[in-house]
Amino acid sequence: MTNNISHTIESLRQRINDHNYRYYVLDDPRISDAEYDTLFAELQSLEKQHPEFITTDSPTQRVGAVPLKEFAEVQHDIPMLSLENAFTEEDVIAFNHRVQERLDRVQDIEYNCEPKLDGLAVSLRYEHGLLVRAATRGDGATGEDITENIRTIKMVPLRLQGKEYPPILEVRGEVYMPKAGFIALNKKAEIKGEKIFANPRNAAAGSLRQLNPRITAARPLAIFCYGVGKVEGGVLPSKHSDILAVLKTWGFVVNPEIEVVTGIAGCLDFYKKIGKKRPNLPYEIDGVVYKVNNLQDQERLGFVSRAPRWALAHKFPAEQVQTVIESVEFQVGRTGALTPVARLRPVAVSGVTVSNATLHNMDEVKRKDIHIGDIVIIQRAGDVIPEVVSVVIEKRPAITEKIKLPEHCPVCHSVVEQIEDEAIARCSGGLFCPAQRKEAVKHFASRRAMDIEGLGDKLVEQLIDNDLISNPADLYKLKLDELAGLERMAEKSAQNLLEALEKSKKTTLARFLYALGIREVGEATAKNLANFFGELEPLFSATVESLQEISDVGPIVAQHIVTFFSEDHNRDVIKKLLAVGVHWETVKKSASALVLAGKTFVLTGTLVSLSRDEAKDKLEALGAKVAGSVSAKTSYVVVGADAGSKLKKAKELGVAVLEEEDFLQFLQVIAKKN
Ligand code: IVH
Repeated sequence: MTNNISHTIESLRQRINDHNYRYYVLDDPRISDAEYDTLFAELQSLEKQHPEFITTDSPTQRVGAVPLKEFAEVQHDIPMLSLENAFTEEDVIAFNHRVQERLDRVQDIEYNCEPKLDGLAVSLRYEHGLLVRAATRGDGATGEDITENIRTIKMVPLRLQGKEYPPILEVRGEVYMPKAGFIALNKKAEIKGEKIFANPRNAAAGSLRQLNPRITAARPLAIFCYGVGKVEGGVLPSKHSDILAVLKTWGFVVNPEIEVVTGIAGCLDFYKKIGKKRPNLPYEIDGVVYKVNNLQDQERLGFVSRAPRWALAHKFPAEQVQTVIESVEFQVGRTGALTPVARLRPVAVSGVTVSNATLHNMDEVKRKDIHIGDIVIIQRAGDVIPEVVSVVIEKRPAITEKIKLPEHCPVCHSVVEQIEDEAIARCSGGLFCPAQRKEAVKHFASRRAMDIEGLGDKLVEQLIDNDLISNPADLYKLKLDELAGLERMAEKSAQNLLEALEKSKKTTLARFLYALGIREVGEATAKNLANFFGELEPLFSATVESLQEISDVGPIVAQHIVTFFSEDHNRDVIKKLLAVGVHWETVKKSASALVLAGKTFVLTGTLVSLSRDEAKDKLEALGAKVAGSVSAKTSYVVVGADAGSKLKKAKELGVAVLEEEDFLQFLQVIAKKN
């Protein structure tokens, strides 16, 4: 009796697997969905009555019961490589040349041509016909164990068909989400107010990275297999196309568009043909793949770094469509850069709805003459964010609106700086702007700045994400229990960090100025500022003109410095830093630290390339004193045209004399030293 039931169960499984195979692989179902469901329900009920007969490869066992804690690592026996890309016909022709040359062959090469799906590469390992492990590609050498999730994809056989398969067989392929499934998934998500996926690739990736296989099971995932990895025992055919054919007999789904062609002309024909079909294919592709069909040839060709020499991905140009710019918003990046983003009337580009496009920067906006209300051509290349290619000028409506750079940061309302000749506009609220906080604090803590030991990038992110700090001054108010409460933070390390913070309070003015993260004020400029001013306060009221007296400081840096110190909230953070005890020893104002400190100059005669005042400013900026009369203490006399008594005196006293040309050269050399 039991024997009988186990038989019935097994034959039901066999029938269900066969129908699956007919449906997915042969695309030739013999029964209706309803009939299939009935068979399935029958099997389920028998297994429920006789759980002792349940096996893991039963079609009822695709969804595991318990969610995972994390994905285990999987070492790939054979690395999972990537593909070299080609964007033009010339690239493809060059590829074919290289292949022929390496194989020392003049005859046309036989290529296997395949659509290139935009999904995720996976590896499926079968032992004695049963699926034992599935993994992501990861970095090519190590991936993640996603067996439980892969099992939920009905197109993946849990048990192989036929008998001729090798005892160990690793099959590789691409998991993807069909366009229709993607649209339906996003619709559902929208109704429920859940996360919308940007494209089918992200949706597929997100679905496979679920720790709970039940979630994956509810996602419309599919797979096409395109090759093998490790194979042990058994012999596989000697051509790639024949391997794909035999994979089909074992129950793997292979893309039906795949073709074998002769020579490069055949490849390019395939490319054009698939390109035409692309909009009507039920899945997204971003190109086609050409593979040398003969495996012996493949082996002779080998691979370079991470891609085989025997394969090439020929990418499609980005699909372009027209739509309207409804408005423009400005996003603030981590470094304060403002990026104009166009809000578009939603439009489908190769099956994906696009409603935003980057305009990069204001120069681009000007160059492309983009206005709000314009009809524009947009394109999307792979998973790169869509961009506006150009305006359709013939279609420009009577009324459009110019795109204007905001005067204040949309995030923190600080002044926006746009330096002439620079494409990028930036928010000046570096220490204060929430969009820039993380970068600002990371920089502040870095070794060459405040040198807060143990406060690495990860920890800074944790502190900000947990709302423990919002600017550098908050660091010095952190409490032991707050720190120790953080994930992965032991009390000892929390204690160490507090000590490091305490230690960092004693610093130098130069480090402090550098730590503030003023745009374009690097270590060298910070040092010059510190030497020149000696203390912090004068910087608050320094002008663009006065700052330019300092070596290394041109009009742009000077402007950045002035803007920085004119922002109240920057001053506020500085005040707070001083209040918590950040301090430094006063720098002896300029002189001693500058290269010409202690030297006295006398200027005489008419200088041609600069006025005497200018020469005086330059010398003083370098620490020199400029005197009116020559004495034994004079270090140099600078002589212009028609120099009189002072030159004579210098000669008498043996003081060094510099002609104008020498003087200019001297200034240059000295300025570099400083
Ligand atoms: S063959 C050594 N065939 O493209 C060969 N890859 O850019 C490596 N892909 O990681 C893979 N369709 O995720 C191959 N028909 C196809 C493919 C394909 C999509 C993906 C795969 C791979 C990536 C490389």
